[in-house]
Amino acid sequence: MKITFLSAFWLLLLFVNPFISAQPQQKSFERRVDSVLRLMTLDEKIGQMNQYNDDWTATGPATVDNEKANQVRNGQVGSLLNCVGVERTRRWQSVAMQSRLKIPLLFGQDVIHGYKTTFPIPLAEACSWDMEAIKQSAQTGAAEASASGIHWTFAPMVDIARDPRWGRVMEGAGEDPYLGSAIATARVKGFQGEQLGGINSVMACAKHFAAYGAAIGGRDYNSVDMSDRMLWEVYLPPFKAALDAGAATFMNSFNDINGVPSTGNKVLQRDILKGKWGFGGFVVSDWGSVGEMINHGNVKNEYEAALSAVTAGSDMDMESRCYKNNLAQLVKDNKVPLALIDGAVRRILQKKFELGLFDDPFRFCNAHREQASLNNPEHTKTARQVAAKSIVLLKNENNLLPLPKNLKTIAFIGPLVKALKQNKGFWDVEVPGVDSGFIVSQWEGLKNKLGAATRLLYAKGCEIEGDNRDGFAEAVAVAQQADVVILSIGERRDMSGEAKSRSNICIPGVQEDLLKELLATGKPVVVLINAGRPLVFNFTADHAPAILYTWWLGSEAGNAIADVLFGDYNPSAKLPITFPRSVGQIPIYYSHFNTGRPATSDNNHKYNSSYLDVSIFPKYEFGYGLSYTTFAYSNLQLNTTKMKADEKIEVSLTITNTGKYEGEEIVQLYLRDKVGSISRPVKELKDFRKIQLQAGESKIIKFVIDKEKLSFYNQDLKWVAEAGDFELMIGASSEDIRLRGEFELLQ
Ligand code: NOJ
Repeated sequence: MKITFLSAFWLLLLFVNPFISAQPQQKSFERRVDSVLRLMTLDEKIGQMNQYNDDWTATGPATVDNEKANQVRNGQVGSLLNCVGVERTRRWQSVAMQSRLKIPLLFGQDVIHGYKTTFPIPLAEACSWDMEAIKQSAQTGAAEASASGIHWTFAPMVDIARDPRWGRVMEGAGEDPYLGSAIATARVKGFQGEQLGGINSVMACAKHFAAYGAAIGGRDYNSVDMSDRMLWEVYLPPFKAALDAGAATFMNSFNDINGVPSTGNKVLQRDILKGKWGFGGFVVSDWGSVGEMINHGNVKNEYEAALSAVTAGSDMDMESRCYKNNLAQLVKDNKVPLALIDGAVRRILQKKFELGLFDDPFRFCNAHREQASLNNPEHTKTARQVAAKSIVLLKNENNLLPLPKNLKTIAFIGPLVKALKQNKGFWDVEVPGVDSGFIVSQWEGLKNKLGAATRLLYAKGCEIEGDNRDGFAEAVAVAQQADVVILSIGERRDMSGEAKSRSNICIPGVQEDLLKELLATGKPVVVLINAGRPLVFNFTADHAPAILYTWWLGSEAGNAIADVLFGDYNPSAKLPITFPRSVGQIPIYYSHFNTGRPATSDNNHKYNSSYLDVSIFPKYEFGYGLSYTTFAYSNLQLNTTKMKADEKIEVSLTITNTGKYEGEEIVQLYLRDKVGSISRPVKELKDFRKIQLQAGESKIIKFVIDKEKLSFYNQDLKWVAEAGDFELMIGASSEDIRLRGEFELLQ
């Protein structure tokens, strides 16, 4: 390791002040940050607040800048994104080491669901309701990315999303703040490990602060119009959870909320995040979002944009160059106090210290470690397990699934059967030197599972899009030879993700027509639906005997699907988001208010809150998902039905596996505050447990209800629990409520 000017300085400081190491680590970082800050010119400080895209790949409208290397050499760049691989990151870090103060670069990357080993898209993983699995997935992504030179992931996306038209619904944990918060915590802990600076971990970034998921009409980057109650109660909790879990950084968002772009939103960033919540990390803008405030019509030019963003608390400017080109002038014009710049730089440097980059800027640049980590068979194993846990069994008429392994002939049909890269879904990372060869296609997965005694036939049938039916005849002919047909249909992987909103979320092309023809053969058909969002597929839902919603499962997709199809894994996943039966129902979510004229059935539209032309009920509700076994819920007991605010109620119940297979059940606890000073939702998820039971086994489950679970934001935005009656609902989904109780919160 080269002894840099700064590391020599630290050694000296440690030598003259032996107490430094004895002081709490945080204090020592702060002192080290201050001493660097004292050496920096204004230009170098602004440099730390400047983040550029490398030229490897672009995840936004990139600016070609031939001066990049010189700027890094001059200390005018604090971070690069989309710079991956030991070789590349080492090369850039070496350039930074030629700068006057040798302040290391931070390498940020969208490691959203794995790195080389790709895991299910985040929304799919959320279906597992399995915090350990979700954490392990983030941990694995972090292990590979950090071994490949990356310090910082732009994840988790903790935006609540209730509109499946929005392409980025795939990147989050769905519609619910309680589940979303639990998942945010698991992901942050997975990425960052116990403490920032671990060699196998990366910094997390909770994004997009805030309410990006509520873009009007589900159109990406669109405005958000939202009440404070909705913001605080539904959209902010996962961010708070991420912060409490230690998220090192936050990213603001492209959208405006009620007319104020988040990037320039002082209330959000400075008052709430850094003030009320005491966030000690730094905030990065979203790609170009500082400059985009001009388009929002909030500022006149880049000078004003930089002023607005930095004042509001955006510490680092991703790609817009507004900071680089304007901050010095803003300081000179006395518009931006130097203290504000120092504050931002301090936050950024602090993280570089915590990551150990000042001690060794190349500590994440070890080619041997990179090779070993990217080829670690344990990662593949984890990816397969997590993928199986993410598959949702939506329908299983007459227990068609699991399929026996001794079938004579299976017809595997559809445009996604032999696809490779599609399985990765959106937001995969292009890792240098790695092609798609290591992805297990669905075809390979089935072949791996089945012995030579089973004949596996294939026909593509049709494309994902378009109206060409030329392949139908071949598909039908193949189906006619088989005992069972498996049909793999869905979206293309790039039909969801950033800037991938759709107004028509039906299964594209003629894929459902192909299903119609296959069903007409009289053969049993299992449908696999591959997608990055809840799709609308009423024909399939009503006519196919068995449906697995497989989302995009990543590198091990094929093996995981085969595990579920043949019962080596009994599906346990449940939906973290409501599936509509028509786009016209959107937004549709389970925790809605009751309205003054609630509708209770689809048969009566007389002056009630319903549609004349479509049901009020979703196709599949939040929390829904089947298993190959069945579970009975019984013996609900509350140790008391009256509690004071400082007391708790203990709830217990028994779950019994009443079927033939070992399986896991996700037991969900919902509450309803029957009368509130503000109307309360018809039900809200307040707890859940995922438990495993052998066939015939029973287990007692316990929940605790405390004041926190009964609280909400009142009209003054105070977090309160109001005395009165509550309804307790425990079930297998938000609609499949099996046990009910009541209790009262006393004055
Ligand atoms: C824009 C996206 O909104 C954000 O989530 C992502 O991290 C950046 N681009 C960088 O790719």
